Amino acid sequence: MPAKKDQKNNQLDAYWMPFTPNKAFKADPRLFARAEGQYYYTNDGRKIRDAFSGLWCSNLGHCHPKIVEAIQQSAAQLDYVTSFNFGHDGAFELANIVANQFPEGMDHVFFTNSGSEAVDTALKMALAYHRIKGEASRTRLIGRVNGYHGVGFGGISVGGMVNNRKFFGGLLTGTDHIPFPYDVRKHAFTRGAADIDPMVYLSELENIIALHDASTIAAVIVEPFMGSAGVYVPPKGYIKKLREITARHGILLIFDEVITAFGRLGAANAATRYGVTPDIVTMAKGINNAAVPMGAAIAGKHIYDAFMNSNDFGVEFFHGYTYSAHPLAVAAGIAAQNIYIDEGVYDHVASLKQYFEDGLHNLKGLPHVEDIRNIGFAGGLTIAQRSGEAAKRAYDVFLKTYDNGVMVRSNGDSVTIAPILTSTRDDLDHIFEALSKALKTVV
Ligand SMILES: Cc1ncc(COP(=O)(O)O)c(C=O)c1O
Repeated sequence: MPAKKDQKNNQLDAYWMPFTPNKAFKADPRLFARAEGQYYYTNDGRKIRDAFSGLWCSNLGHCHPKIVEAIQQSAAQLDYVTSFNFGHDGAFELANIVANQFPEGMDHVFFTNSGSEAVDTALKMALAYHRIKGEASRTRLIGRVNGYHGVGFGGISVGGMVNNRKFFGGLLTGTDHIPFPYDVRKHAFTRGAADIDPMVYLSELENIIALHDASTIAAVIVEPFMGSAGVYVPPKGYIKKLREITARHGILLIFDEVITAFGRLGAANAATRYGVTPDIVTMAKGINNAAVPMGAAIAGKHIYDAFMNSNDFGVEFFHGYTYSAHPLAVAAGIAAQNIYIDEGVYDHVASLKQYFEDGLHNLKGLPHVEDIRNIGFAGGLTIAQRSGEAAKRAYDVFLKTYDNGVMVRSNGDSVTIAPILTSTRDDLDHIFEALSKALKTVV
């Protein structure tokens, strides 16, 4: 280690870690040296099962040989090319592979480097689309209470998680939020989606439209299920009804599929799974198995055509990133997409999702478990607070599960799991065992 390093900070202090209790982590760090398949290996040689697909992103497991090879090859052949006025074949190939997996008419892929950037891209597309179409008064953006759409100013403005918003001033003006579509008093321990009238949670959208008038509203953005909040699934029929209402009022519908695209629900994406065609979909994470940062927004033909017809010559959309369609990210993307498709990964999840649901709900009745929720290969548990201390016991369950050799995630009072999509029954059983042991030991 160069001597200079220790002069300013101790080794761990120099790195200000994101979304982490820095002091707690640095007092007892969890450091990984390498990863392979379903496992991480720590600096001190422990083997930890990844039950969170990294962060909802390493869907195919770690260091997949085909993805590694593709990245290595690209690094040696074409390390970088700007996407402003130049291109490379891979970017067009990946855009086609991605578009082919979305519903008819969703054809045009705009590359970003993260989910947050994908969300900002989608919101900007929506605003500019209405302006180009002569409806510049449509500027309001509507999200949902407890929604997570990344950390850009656009994303936190339509997002609905209080800690992600309250420190950062006034945010975007003209945003509204529709209700959180889950009531634990009514839905606790529901398997999948609750069988209730979705208008219980959607009538507020009609109220917001009546209050502001549709002519002022650009778009509604939702996660098809709410991942970061703790895996909350909207009632049956909710997504279809949301499409109906937005379409009736000329409001664009954006699905934030940063988690749901590429297999998490046992289908290529939530739009396909629900049989609903939104106007724009954001994605990231699983798009290239997270081996290199990448995100994207896919737009319907009507949106793309409006931009293309907006002038005779010149830039049609004043937006983009230095690293849009970065060759290494694209190479990883093509390799990952080929694996998803050639190896039937979506069908594998579909065939095991009932097994996953049963295993997860078997945890009902264990100490501290107040609720269990699931969809596809995503599961959430609410952990009872210890004498009113928010988030602490869930964090302890996360730590104890890690001690048992399995990495899950805690967020607020929720513990969430997102197994690698190629998991077998044995892999899933191991996760449930480690969680069960942790729940029985945590006080
Ligand atoms: C639904 C959703 N949108 C956006 C994001 C932000 O993605 P990123 O962290 O890549 O910016 C996430 C991240 O988890 C997400 O779950």
